[in-house]
Amino acid sequence: MIEIKNLEKVYPNGTIALSRINLTIEKGEFLYIVGESGAGKTTLLKIIHGEEKPTSGSVMYDGKAVDEFPSHVLKQKIGFAYQDFMLIEDRSVMENVSLPLQYQGENFKSIYNKTSSILEAIKLKDKMYKLVKELSGGEKQRISLARAIIMNPEVLILDEPLGNLDRDTASVIMQYVEALNEKGTTILMSTHHMLNEDTIPRKIIKLKKGRIVTKDYV
Ligand SMILES: Nc1ncnc2c1ncn2[C@@H]1O[C@H](COP(=O)(O)OP(=O)(O)OP(=O)(O)O)[C@@H](O)[C@H]1O
Ligand SMILES: [Mg+2]
Repeated sequence: MIEIKNLEKVYPNGTIALSRINLTIEKGEFLYIVGESGAGKTTLLKIIHGEEKPTSGSVMYDGKAVDEFPSHVLKQKIGFAYQDFMLIEDRSVMENVSLPLQYQGENFKSIYNKTSSILEAIKLKDKMYKLVKELSGGEKQRISLARAIIMNPEVLILDEPLGNLDRDTASVIMQYVEALNEKGTTILMSTHHMLNEDTIPRKIIKLKKGRIVTKDYV
């Protein structure tokens, strides 16, 4: 489904963020990306999402180069929950989560139903009409996840989605994400969190200074 070949990323300031990345991600897979701070996880995820350009190498999505997709098509196929949230602080939770649906011109009733059911699942329905700037870090993180999910994407990218969450809330989120995976959504998730032994087996790659040093199943 996603085929990455000889990927390299050098930022304009000369930082080599990724080098010689080769990776195939199958449909329905649950891929964990681990590695210390600065290892290149966010850079890799943003390149897969088409919002950061590689310096060299290629990312193919269903046999077609990622940069050949119109951006609105790519955004519909791939949802991205950002490590730094990327929410509009002066707008409500409802507006932020439903923004992708509003762009599509979906009707109000359907927008309301989809938004409230996701907020219910991530235990934030009571915050629906609050402004984002009134929320805690962990709440913002879950709102970013809700916005990534609302279009029902084929691929869901979660960049350190549990970073600001306590154990119980992290577990609610993981169960929700696992249920999406079981229904067929491909998940790419960067994390510093330890894996629970009772979770489903998944592929794990470890990045170190921009290179893949481990590729395994756990
Ligand atoms: N826009 C940028 N311009 C220049 N260098 C950057 C930029 N973004 C990231 N970097 C550098 O690229 C490297 C990889 O950064 P990246 O954000 O991908 O790491 P990460 O694994 O996501 O780290 P963290 O766990 O802290 O989120 C780091 O050395 C970082 O300083
Ligand atoms: Mg990061």
